[in-house]
Amino acid sequence: MTGTTHAPGRIAPPAAIAAALDRAVALARRGPLHDPNPRVGCVLLAPDGTTLAEGHHGGAGTPHAEAAALAAAGPAAAGATAVVTLEPCSHHGRTPPCATALVEAGVAHVVYAVADPTRAGGGARTLTSAGVRVDHQPHPGAEDLVADWARAARLGRPHVTWKVASTLDGRVAAADGTSRWITSPEARRAAHQVRSQVGAVLVGTGTALTDDPSLTARDADGTLLADQPLRVVVGERDLPAGSALALAAGGALSAEGGAVLHLRTHDPARVLDELRERGVHSVLLEGGPTLGGAFWRAGLVDELLVHLAPALLGAGPLAVPDLGITTISDAARLDLVDLTRLGPDLQLRLRPTAGGTAADSTSDPATSTSSTQATSTTPDPTPQED
Ligand SMILES: NC(=O)c1ccc[n+]([C@@H]2O[C@H](COP(=O)([O-])OP(=O)(O)OC[C@H]3O[C@@H](n4cnc5c(N)ncnc54)[C@H](OP(=O)(O)O)[C@@H]3O)[C@@H](O)[C@H]2O)c1
Repeated sequence: MTGTTHAPGRIAPPAAIAAALDRAVALARRGPLHDPNPRVGCVLLAPDGTTLAEGHHGGAGTPHAEAAALAAAGPAAAGATAVVTLEPCSHHGRTPPCATALVEAGVAHVVYAVADPTRAGGGARTLTSAGVRVDHQPHPGAEDLVADWARAARLGRPHVTWKVASTLDGRVAAADGTSRWITSPEARRAAHQVRSQVGAVLVGTGTALTDDPSLTARDADGTLLADQPLRVVVGERDLPAGSALALAAGGALSAEGGAVLHLRTHDPARVLDELRERGVHSVLLEGGPTLGGAFWRAGLVDELLVHLAPALLGAGPLAVPDLGITTISDAARLDLVDLTRLGPDLQLRLRPTAGGTAADSTSDPATSTSSTQATSTTPDPTPQED
């Protein structure tokens, strides 16, 4: 625990603070999983370590966790220790900054587990300058709670993983369009786990029309997993009325997975804007080569998840469309960050090498004309909404 200032007076004992941090993480989990804002919990402790009040954030448009706890404590908050999973915000949104609210309530001590990576950060500095003792006490559970949100905040858009199941010769379907099943049940089970960990799963209309997928996250026996992603189809064409996604969109299968969204655009950036506004922090791209290639060319793929089956097809669509690369020095290079065996298949987790192309390491980037993955700009991280 790293203290920055020390205000006079008693503060809650370390054991009570540690227990309050666990409790704050549990409270935070009551907030919505898919929301523009992070899930945050707060516990207010009296100087003797007893709990005065608790709060959590219930999603955009509702009070932040600290505000909820302060409201519940009333005047008893004076002299308290506030234990929060995320550094209190310092920006003026629809609600006043939590750092200011804590100062005005007379809180003597603030302990937070995760530093705010957005420009709403800086709450610790505001508190310190007002004479409040501030400690940063990391907590793995609190970090897990906001990992997706923090990564999206740094990117200024949802994080994108392009998932491909391919044969050794890079085919994602046979010549007749069939692709069920290229990989083993073990690999498919792992893919469903990944689906349940992201905010949205995306396919193009090509995949929706050919495979008629439901895009739900399921167990080996078909049972729905607890967390279901938003299901998104990208493209101009209508889905047939009897298709799984059209039925789900119409409410006929609403109890069987996340909501369905059909975005009639070909613009990957617009897709991500739309999803960000809906509180999606991570996306699993499960479309075919057309959609995957469009995201890659736009510089909007952060990670590739490849399930490689020991099989050959010799014909059929390739995983990656023409990227306009004509010479080996322009090859799009990736770093292998993880390699796992899934039954007979291999799972490769890869990230585009910084700079994106082999050419970047051998030629002057200022004069390079490589047409592989576009350089994505990293905008200022945006603060939580209110
Ligand atoms: N093995 C695997 O991992 C895997 C995964 C998915 C699919 N597949 C296979 O891939 C094949 C389908 O491939 P696909 O490439 O047609 O599927 P896709 O990428 O999912 O869908 C392509 C369609 O999406 C629309 N679209 C959306 N954004 C676009 C953009 N930026 N540029 C152009 N079109 C855009 C277009 O349709 P509109 O005309 O409607 O706009 C386009 O025809 C199937 O055989 C399927 O089984 C394999």
